[in-house]
Amino acid sequence: MNLPVQTLTLGTPLSPSAVRVMLLGSGELGKEVLIALQRLGVETIAVDRYDHAPGQQVAHHRRTITMSDPDQLRALIEAEQPDLVVPEIEAIATPVLEELEAAGVVRVIPTARAARLTMDREGIRRLAAETLGLPTSPYRFCDSLAALQAAIDGRDGEPPIGYPCIVKPVMSSSGKGQSKIDGPADVQAAWDHAMAGGRVSHGRVIVEGFIDFDYEITQLTVRAAGRGAQLGEALTHFCEPIGHKQVSGDYVESWQPQPMSPVALQRAREIAKAVTDNLGGQGLFGVELFVKGDMVWFSEVSPRPHDTGLVTLSTQVQSEFELHARAILGLPVDTSLRQAGASAVIYGGVDAQDVVFDGVAQALSEPGTDLRLFGKPESFVKRRLGVALATDADIEAARAKALRAAACVRPRVPDAG
Ligand SMILES: Nc1ncnc2c1ncn2[C@@H]1O[C@H](COP(=O)(O)OP(=O)(O)OP(=O)(O)O)[C@@H](O)[C@H]1O
Ligand SMILES: [Mg+2]
Repeated sequence: MNLPVQTLTLGTPLSPSAVRVMLLGSGELGKEVLIALQRLGVETIAVDRYDHAPGQQVAHHRRTITMSDPDQLRALIEAEQPDLVVPEIEAIATPVLEELEAAGVVRVIPTARAARLTMDREGIRRLAAETLGLPTSPYRFCDSLAALQAAIDGRDGEPPIGYPCIVKPVMSSSGKGQSKIDGPADVQAAWDHAMAGGRVSHGRVIVEGFIDFDYEITQLTVRAAGRGAQLGEALTHFCEPIGHKQVSGDYVESWQPQPMSPVALQRAREIAKAVTDNLGGQGLFGVELFVKGDMVWFSEVSPRPHDTGLVTLSTQVQSEFELHARAILGLPVDTSLRQAGASAVIYGGVDAQDVVFDGVAQALSEPGTDLRLFGKPESFVKRRLGVALATDADIEAARAKALRAAACVRPRVPDAG
């Protein structure tokens, strides 16, 4: 018998009967979760570190605080008393979430423990490799340049990590501060890059042996209510695998379904099940995996919608955002694929405020294309401002179409006056 699912009784927003959900982080992924919640009549509170964040533009309420500040976070949750707190980013004062969850003040999605374990690379890597015994790249955590070199060379009493390898700050995302080391000459530069790129500069990195994979996937995994006789039970549901391409550790293209051997697909799902069972709770997870032939390695997991899963806005019956919304409310989900498709990222290309977008009509003129413009108030050259979506008969055609559509959209500085 599976654990019972916790289902909330939906009510009327802006009234005492409302179910109130607070998003911690309101970027482009949070915005889509908020829209999905709005459609079910949930009252939403969008929190971010800056005003006019994408999700704040579609929520009932918006709050701007420093979410990594324990006092600010505690005060906000106690004042708002939401039914659910839904982390959308990693940089959150997670001990506060654990404390408030333990005191019965809020339910954290999927669990406060999952938010803590995935907020840096160490908690989740040790859980996956050391507690669950899942296959991962060889790795070591290092607090100095000397320790990094010793780990690579195997002078710390452990087998050498060797070359090539990858160095990442323990707290960073989207590839920030990450670099590949091909030989001894690169070590110092990789260390310096990690120190400059980490979110909180506490000088700790992970060094990982380089996995020469054939392809990498995101296995979206949903812990949500079953259907029919299993309506009240928490079950694990899998989406079709999403393939993706990363440049400098940042996603630029994704597609679904990624073809896989039956053995690799089964291993991917076993790994995803083991990790998400351990993290627990209700919600959608993005399990990142490397695949070579029939071999599968666990890389990392987001206990929330994944950027590469933006493709599901056009490919699935229910997007990853709708799946997350339903899962957290205790409702049944449908993870089936509707059609093959792809996504391609639209970067800002300029450092500017309040950009305008040329080429949108051209991007949408081809049948089977769609677009999301996130509404970010400030553009940077490498900031993701939107995504092009495409469906087609197969993933190759869809990828080409998504790239064509993305290339049409050109953010620029608005005309003066
Ligand atoms: N050990 C490895 N071997 C080979 N490639 C790797 C390894 N680690 C990371 N990569 C590549 O770098 C990408 C980004 O790495 P990772 O997911 O750990 O960083 P991230 O900053 O958390 O990225 P994001 O937040 O966008 O998921 C991976 O998707 C993969 O393409
Ligand atoms: Mg990643």
